[in-house]
Amino acid sequence: MINLTNFSSIFIANWKLNGNLEFIKQYYQKLLNNPQNCTIICSPSIFLNKLKTNDKNLYSGAQDISIYNEGAYTGELSAKMLANNQISFCLVGHSERRQYFNEKSDVIKLKSINLIENNIIPVICIGETLEEKEKNITKDILKYQIENSVPDISNFKNTIIAYEPIWAIGSGLTPTLEDIDEVHTFIKEINKKFNQYKVLYGGSVKASNSRDINMIKNVDGCLVGGASLKVEEFNSIIS
Ligand code: PGA
Repeated sequence: MINLTNFSSIFIANWKLNGNLEFIKQYYQKLLNNPQNCTIICSPSIFLNKLKTNDKNLYSGAQDISIYNEGAYTGELSAKMLANNQISFCLVGHSERRQYFNEKSDVIKLKSINLIENNIIPVICIGETLEEKEKNITKDILKYQIENSVPDISNFKNTIIAYEPIWAIGSGLTPTLEDIDEVHTFIKEINKKFNQYKVLYGGSVKASNSRDINMIKNVDGCLVGGASLKVEEFNSIIS
């Protein structure tokens, strides 16, 4: 398993359902390497073997995984198969999976267990909707999601948490820096064991705001969607 404590910050590009072979070729010709940070590119699974990694600080990651390890489950991809292909990370419980594919926290927990057992680091995503934020129940929602999605076998060495307010994803809106600080501090204090976890922020991260967001003490990096598709912009985020 990758040693997360080696890195001061972790940046993840979440390409979602985007990319093709030519895009990948051009992307890696231009992608910069910042040795202090860990950079993880999460492409659609079919392209994972086309991505470049370097065993030091550039890795690839999947965007989802099956709850099953093998068997008659047509269309699925297992953690065991990712491990077999030297994939080191996998997003789990992204809000688009929760929203469009009805994924619940118990499934996210099972997926995370499968990944950890195969030496792959799950990046467990949590976040509140706008409605929940307006009702002032963000912290209750996050606590529930953490307690029900993060398995007992997780620890700061084998699991990453990503806080992504759903209303900020792809919308151009972001919480204030004070709000991000408050929520990340809250997450790390839900339980003593979360204190040392890497907690990333995601939701409309771009070159123009990433620096300020990353300066927040309890922010350990960013999960970047739309802006990660423009390699020049992603370069300026990771540097
Ligand atoms: P965004 O997406 O950066 O486009 O808001 C983030 C994500 O969905 O992980």
